[in-house]
Order: sequence, then C-alpha cells, then structure tokens
Amino acid sequence: MSALAGARVLVTGGAGFIGSHLVDELLDHHDPVEVRVIDNLATGRMENLERLGSDGRLRFDQADLRDADALERALDGVDVVLHLACLGVRHSLHDPVENHEVNAGATLGLLEAARRHDVRRFVHVSSSEVFGTAQYAPMDERHPTWPETVYGGSKLAGEAYARAAHRTHGMATVVARPFNTFGPRSHFEGDSGEVLPRTIVRALCGLPPLVYGDGTQTRDFMHVSDTVRGLAALASCDAAIGQTVNLGSGREVTINDLAEAVVAGAGRPDLQTVHLEARPGDVRRLIVDGTFMKELTGFETEVVFEDGVRDLVAWFASRPQTPQEMLARIEDRNWVGSPVATAAGEAAR
Ligand SMILES: NC(=O)c1ccc[n+]([C@@H]2O[C@H](COP(=O)([O-])OP(=O)(O)OC[C@H]3O[C@@H](n4cnc5c(N)ncnc54)[C@H](O)[C@@H]3O)[C@@H](O)[C@H]2O)c1
Repeated sequence: MSALAGARVLVTGGAGFIGSHLVDELLDHHDPVEVRVIDNLATGRMENLERLGSDGRLRFDQADLRDADALERALDGVDVVLHLACLGVRHSLHDPVENHEVNAGATLGLLEAARRHDVRRFVHVSSSEVFGTAQYAPMDERHPTWPETVYGGSKLAGEAYARAAHRTHGMATVVARPFNTFGPRSHFEGDSGEVLPRTIVRALCGLPPLVYGDGTQTRDFMHVSDTVRGLAALASCDAAIGQTVNLGSGREVTINDLAEAVVAGAGRPDLQTVHLEARPGDVRRLIVDGTFMKELTGFETEVVFEDGVRDLVAWFASRPQTPQEMLARIEDRNWVGSPVATAAGEAAR
C-alpha cells in the first residue's frame, strides 16, 4: 500500500504540464482521500485536469501562491504538499523580479504556511537548472550549483529554503531535482515552449528542426510518466526526508539527436536541421547520476527516449488544433534579440 494512501495531498501548479500528470499518478496509484490543486493558470490549463468533475477526490482552486488567504484555504487539513508551481526559464529573462517573487518568495511563504498547518511531508520540486552547465558528468547531488539564469537562481533559493525548514524546524522536507521532462501536455507555445514539442509541431507542419548553436549541447530527458512516479516515490520515502535528490534518466541526448528522433518519429527524415546562433547562457551539458535516487527508492526509468518521442509526435498529431494553428503560437526566438529568420525562408516567431 502506498504511504500516501488516505492522505490529503496538495499539488501546487497542478494544472501545469508535470503537475497534472502527478495529479493523475496520485489518483491512479496512491489512493489519497483528496488531491487538491492550487494554480493561478499563468501557464497551466484547465483541460490538463481531465478528472475534475468525474473524480470526487480532485479539487481545484484557481489562486495565486502569493495570496496568503488562498494559501490558508489550500493548506487546511493537508497532510502532504508537492510544490511544483513556478514561472519558467524564459519568463526569468524578461521579468526576473516576478520570477524570483514566485519561485523563491512564494516558496518561502508556502513553507512557512505549511509549517503552521503541521504538514507531515513537503516535496519541493526544484530543477537541474540550479547546476548551470555540467562541470563533471554524470552529475550527482554534490555537483556545484552555479545557475546561469535568474530562473536557476530562484529555484536554488527555493531549495535552500526547503532544506532550511528541515534543519531549523525539523520539517519533513525533500528536495527533488528533475532534469528535462517531456511528454503529453508539454508546452510548445510562447514563453513556456520547450525545444522538443516545438520541434515536433514544426515537423508536423513539414518544417525542419531549428537548433541553436551546433546542437552538440546535451540534456537528460525523462518521460513525464517516469518523473511523476519518481516524485510520488520521494513523497512516500522516509529516508528521503531532509535530502536533495536528482531525478533523471541517466542518458545524455544531444539536441541534434533530439532533432533526429523527431523527424524519424514524424516519418520526415528528409527534414534537414537548420542551425542558428547559439543562445547566450545556454547550458552546454546536463546528465544525471541517479544512484542516490535508486538507493533511496529503488526507482528506475521505464520509458526509452525515442519511444517517448514517437508517442509524443502521435499525441501532438491528435490535438484538436491543427499543427499550423499550434505553429502560429510558437516563439522561435533566441533568448535575446529579434525573432529569427529561418533558412527555410519563413519568419519564425
Ligand atoms: N518541464 C521540465 O522539463 C522541468 C524540469 C525540471 C524541473 N521542472 C520543475 O517542475 C515544475 C513544474 O514545471 P512544468 O514544466 O510542469 O511547468 P508548468 O508551467 O506547466 O507548470 C507550472 C504551473 O505553476 C502555475 N503557477 C505559476 N505561477 C503561479 C502562482 N504564482 N500561483 C499559482 N500557480 C502558479 C502555472 O499556472 C502552471 O500550471 C516546476 O517547479 C519546474 O521548475 C520542470
């Protein structure tokens, strides 16, 4: 039986990409008495909460984490908090102060409120962006944290506050650091657009992958079904209390490999990658050492990257919007400067 069975669980950011899959994971496999979501829908979507209305255990409050009254409401009677709400890396480039307020400031406010409410477990979902680029690989939990963006800095502050709550007040906090996560409901659009979904939408429109720099930069991609299994495992694991744990697949994938997997998955191997100017501050290398996670929870990755990409191409192809409608919402621009013109001749926004 899951250690979360019978628990009242609060998922912040639960209408977002990973948060909504975590809600499903909890309802499907952990037998909670209630899963409560607080989300202001800054980047989250109601349609991600497919079970709302049909599963009486799921409750949703559209509210901002910076609203103290909303936090009191959200935490009333809660046993376990899984904290995912945040603003993303590209948001931090044009609005660093708000990015800090939500990712660091609101995390501290939430920790304090959760302590007053005697929450018995608090999982803070951080990010591999706290590391900056890999100084050695694979990256274990002792790897130096030299973030390259305000986003990475604000996520690092959030994790420091979660660790401090454990050390100062004995709160049962856990810090999870997912690396790059991919899967259905991932963002292709606007500020939140991730390279994999954007490349898929382009391929479905018959457009070639756009890669910033030479494409040899690497990431560690984990399928969202694995990520949320890992987060739930950490929430259930007593030995994880007070710990900081990296969560990734342990496989290093170059952005060129990613482009190849997408065109193969879309049945368009004829689409030749277009290389653009490198992004300033772009992390060069990320790859996890998952030893600690495995020791703590026995966790192993299940989804192979290429299989997950093929399924994700099919998922995007089955969306109610056409690929062209999705393409119109993509911002393919470098982190600074104007939108790029692609070698294919179209002005990608
Ligand atoms: N996607 C990844 O590859 C990845 C990798 C590592 C870590 N993470 C972490 O996982 C978590 C979830 O990321 P995601 O990819 O699902 O992003 P997402 O943008 O889909 O989810 C974030 C959610 O937080 C909500 N939110 C933002 N500001 C809020 C506020 N002030 N009050 C209430 N809700 C607010 C958004 O509406 C959204 O639903 C984040 O903490 C992120 O740092 C994500």
